[in-house]
Parts: sequence; C-alpha cells; structure tokens
Amino acid sequence: MGHVARLAGVSVRTLHHYDDIGLVRPSARTPAGYRAYAPADVERLREVLAYRRLGFGLREVADLVGDPSTNAVAHLRRLRGLLLERRDRADAMVAAIDRELAARAKGLKVTPEEQLGMLGARLYDAIGDAYTATRRTEPRFATRIWDALGDARTVLNVGAGTGSYEPADRVVTAVEPSAVMRGQRPAGAAPCVAAAAESLPFDDGSFDAAMAVSTVHHWGDPIAGLREMRRVARRVVVLTFDTDEAGWQDRFWLTRDYLPEFAGVLSGFPSLAGMADAIGGRAEAVPIPWDCADGLFEAYWRRPEAYLDDRVRRAVSVWARVGREAERRAVRSLGDDLGSGRWAERNRDLAELDAADLGLRLLVA
Ligand SMILES: C[S@@+](CC[C@H](N)C(=O)[O-])C[C@H]1O[C@@H](n2cnc3c(N)ncnc32)[C@H](O)[C@@H]1O
Repeated sequence: MGHVARLAGVSVRTLHHYDDIGLVRPSARTPAGYRAYAPADVERLREVLAYRRLGFGLREVADLVGDPSTNAVAHLRRLRGLLLERRDRADAMVAAIDRELAARAKGLKVTPEEQLGMLGARLYDAIGDAYTATRRTEPRFATRIWDALGDARTVLNVGAGTGSYEPADRVVTAVEPSAVMRGQRPAGAAPCVAAAAESLPFDDGSFDAAMAVSTVHHWGDPIAGLREMRRVARRVVVLTFDTDEAGWQDRFWLTRDYLPEFAGVLSGFPSLAGMADAIGGRAEAVPIPWDCADGLFEAYWRRPEAYLDDRVRRAVSVWARVGREAERRAVRSLGDDLGSGRWAERNRDLAELDAADLGLRLLVA
C-alpha cells in the first residue's frame, strides 16, 4: 500500500479511506496475506485521483468510475476532454488579463463586462450561445466541401461546432472542444468527441476523410492540428483563410477602413502555403456570395448595415478578439459612413458583384 501511495503521491490514509468507503478496494493479496493493488485496482485508483484533481466530489467520482458502460479508454478520453477544457479556459483567462493590462497601461477605462468577461470559459464557451443566430450552412460552401470529400464514407469533422457542414449521407464523427458548442448540436447530429485538433484521439488512418471548416484559426497550433488530420484520414478538406497575399488586410473594406486590428488577430496564423504543405494539398479560392447564409466575418460584404447588428457580431469571434474598444470605434465609424453616404461612395463597385474573393480558401489533399 505504501508503495502505491508513494507512486500516486497520496497518503496511505487516503488509500485506507478509499478502501473503507468502497471507492478503490485492493483486490490482490501479498504472500504474507496483506492487501495489494492488482493492475485493475491501480487503473481505478488513477481514475479516481484524476477526477478528484479535476474537482469532482467523492460521490460524483464514485458514480463516474462505477459506471459499468465506461471502460478505461472511455475514462481516459473523458479526462482528456475535461483537461483540455480547463487548459483552454486558463488560456482564455490569460488572454483576457493581457488585454486588460494593455488597456490599463494605455489609461483606458475597463468596463464591468470586460472585467467579468475573463471569468467566462474559453472563447467559444463565452460567445458560443450566440452562434446559431446567424451561423448557418451556406449551401454553396457545402457543395464545394462535400464534392471535395469525394467518395469518403467515414468523415471526421474537426472543430465541428454545431455541425453546419456535416454531410448527411456519410458516417460522421465530430470533434469539438467547447462544451457550449457541443451542447448546441441538434438532436440526431453525429456523435461528438470532446477533444482538440492538435491531439486527435484516433488511430492512424481511422477515417476516409477529415474536414475542418472555419476553425483552423482558433487552434493553438494549426500546423500540428492539420498534421493530425492528415494522420487519421486518407483525405483532408479544410476551409480556411489566406494571409499570404501581400496587402491582404486591404482586401475587405471592413478590415481596411474600420477594423485594422483584425490583422493583429491573425498575426501568428500560418501561411496558406504552410498549411497546404502540412496536409500535402492544394488551395482553391472560395468566393463569398453576396447573400451568404453563414454569417462569418466577411459574409456581409455587400450588406454593410448587418455589422451594426450586435447579434451578427456576437456570432463571430473576431469581434471578441479585437476587444470592446476597437469594436465600438469600428461600429461607430461604419455607422457614420453609412449615414453620410461615404461608405457607398467608397465601395461603389461592390454593388455590381454577386460574389467576392475575400481570401476564403479550400485546401484539399
Ligand atoms: C467558427 S466555429 C466553426 C464551427 C463549424 N466548423 C462551422 O463551420 O460551423 C470554430 C470552432 O472551432 C472550435 N475550436 C477552437 N479551438 C479548437 C481546437 N484546438 N481544436 C478543434 N476545434 C477547436 C471552437 O470551439 C468552435 O466551435
């Protein structure tokens, strides 16, 4: 018992207590007749201690480890998901603290919303519940993605969110780290694993294809995530954004004239060529239709009034990332220009276009 206690970093008293309450009962015996931990007991002890470390109470832990339908691998997956959530939450808090420190250093006033915002979960746990208001399947994007999946029967959807682009005619498995997003998946949606792209809990070549839509820019390590997709699937399809083109910041009037901070949001984002390399694929341009049904950042390029609508902005992470100050300034300034006719004057040529190339790219490998 002392040896196991030392290995696990807990006291012998704790192990006695777990034995007394029936949580972890050593089932083997030493030659001298003392109780000893069999491999299955050690496995159970490890699960108990890991759930305890994550803050679960003894009764909850007993329910979790006592669930006969959950084996060791399922426990590891669940623990992994819980730890990733915790890590993301810590990352989001660090980012929020950095933003507040920067604001304070500039002498800016920090609002109560901003101060309390850092206590929220990671980005999509914070903004995720606004997502379904405007983020829907754009059928022209869906056709491109599904064509690129070819004859794949099994498909992994990484950073799946609410599953907007999951093809109904294939066997889909979703991966999504945000509990809020997972919670909004419609009834009957594909099964969803709590995990992150950078470390997919699947064996090599488990799927015919892996897809990722509007998510790579959120990953802590996009190249690692893309390599993981390559590892677990024969075919890889990724809808992402091109920042290779010189002056890409000026491609879209919103970034060019109102929200130059967007460039900062994508400053550490890998090049399109680097991402294509990671999966061994090619890039195809995806024009954004003027009436795009999926309310992504660029979706309203010909409907500028939409950006004045809080609901539209809340469903797009860019606005949360640039911070309230930049958002307020951009919206005020756009509103002024729409009112004065300045926007219309500057962007006269857009009225003629039905679709615009604003840097959206499909990587196919
Ligand atoms: C803009 S949403 C896109 C959701 C969905 N693919 C769609 O097109 O509607 C981005 C998603 O990426 C998820 N995400 C963030 N970090 C991730 C990571 N490291 N690995 C996988 N997904 C991640 C977010 O939680 C969020 O649900």
